[in-house]
Amino acid sequence: MLHDPNHIYIFDTTLRDGEQVPGCQLTTSEKIEIAQELELLGVDVIEAGFPISSPGDFQSVVELSKAVKEPIICALTRANKGDIDSAVASLKYAKRPRIHTGIGASDMHIQYKFNSTRDEILARGVEAVKYAKSFVEDVEFYAEDAGRADLAYLARMIEAVIAAGATVVNIPDTNGYCLPDEYGARIKYLKENVKNIEQAIISVHCHNDLGLATANSISGIQNGARQIECTINGIGERAGNTSLEEVAMILKVHQTLNLHSNINSKHFYHLSNKVSRMMNMPVQPNKAIVGKNAFAHSSGIHQDGFLKHRQNYEIINPEDVGIPSAEIVLTARSGRHALKHHLERLGYLIEKVNLNEVYDRFLNLADQKKEITDNDLLSLMGDGTEANYNESSIKMKTLNVIMSGDSIPEATVTLEISSQEKQATATGNGPVNATINAIESIIGKKPSLKEFNIQAMNGGSDDISRVDMLLLLDGKSYDGYGFSTDIVRASANAYLDAVNKFLS
Ligand code: KIV
Ligand code: ZN
Repeated sequence: MLHDPNHIYIFDTTLRDGEQVPGCQLTTSEKIEIAQELELLGVDVIEAGFPISSPGDFQSVVELSKAVKEPIICALTRANKGDIDSAVASLKYAKRPRIHTGIGASDMHIQYKFNSTRDEILARGVEAVKYAKSFVEDVEFYAEDAGRADLAYLARMIEAVIAAGATVVNIPDTNGYCLPDEYGARIKYLKENVKNIEQAIISVHCHNDLGLATANSISGIQNGARQIECTINGIGERAGNTSLEEVAMILKVHQTLNLHSNINSKHFYHLSNKVSRMMNMPVQPNKAIVGKNAFAHSSGIHQDGFLKHRQNYEIINPEDVGIPSAEIVLTARSGRHALKHHLERLGYLIEKVNLNEVYDRFLNLADQKKEITDNDLLSLMGDGTEANYNESSIKMKTLNVIMSGDSIPEATVTLEISSQEKQATATGNGPVNATINAIESIIGKKPSLKEFNIQAMNGGSDDISRVDMLLLLDGKSYDGYGFSTDIVRASANAYLDAVNKFLS
């Protein structure tokens, strides 16, 4: 295979390393939605899951393989036949399948995880690659904890797996341990000491335990790696993975590196918001590229300098990462055209949006708020209410709460379940509690509420609130979120969002 020597392959693992974080789990249809947006973004590889880990993960890889055309679809395995068989079956429909298999490479893992020896582990790695290669052409090998592995042994292992057929060799800094120069030196060492290294692409997979994941990934590619494994918003195990938007913008801003990717950065803002909402992972305001403050200039000196010449304080044009300049303000008087313009600006595919339905909900909201912000629109598009539901979902029809003086709050809820309306009234120690009690008496289940968070989207007393909930039922947790200008309704939406997940 001929590769452009200056092309950096972007391997997205939001749906595998990112999704394995507690609370981030997605349904298959949510994964498809994100995968299609990753395709639009221009990623080269989508790691779709770890098929042997659960029937849900297996099915997601199957469905993603059908839904995605361009990017390679990759399935993770450990170095054993059962895992690889499962990956092969899950990739049946993939146009460009890849199996990502591997084993621990550090003495720590060899001794304390596998209770084995270097030679035995190397042989298992080689066997796994050979077995995977008997099914697919594209086999990536990961040498887990390579950041702490003995270098000479790592080189021996990498040479052996390439000889066995690996097309990509992944050198993960699994524990986010390395310093950038140290990690770069590891890649350089492999480039210089593995005889057959030119037959494979070196991949970097860095974790962020010391906040160095992006720096380490860049150091890796400066020393010869040509694939970066990363996630949207840098989500992932513990402190997360390398952030896709950061590495892509580094390549764009630092043209002198003479390295490039296929990423269309204009989709970042939209996708970052979507992943954050769907995975219940707020983006820290000072997060590079996509944080709320990433392009906000607050000190007087900065504002003055920015207004004189924006490049004084801006190395990236916010529009290049999809952060809109709000030249048309949306209000209750805005028409469908203005709404469409803003939705397109935020990266929505208008063909996939039922504009009339969204416009009705927009007007509802605009009646309650003076101005509709981008955050409001984003919540409107994925608000944990009817827009996201399917035929069998439980829907909220009406909610009335009575609270007067010192009397106990009382909520009356009407739900639509399989086209039938059911109503219940209940009291509680507050309006939210009364609403949840009423819902529970209709659905006949009483999950325990493990987490409950309310967040104002923009500020201001007429603001939209976002409520996130985590419910526990029969030992499994289900997350839900909802939006509304009324926090009781936002809570009910969040509760129903989670309920629909455990009933589906
Ligand atoms: O961090 C890691 O080592 C991994 C491997 C499974 C690739 O995620
Ligand atoms: Zn990882």
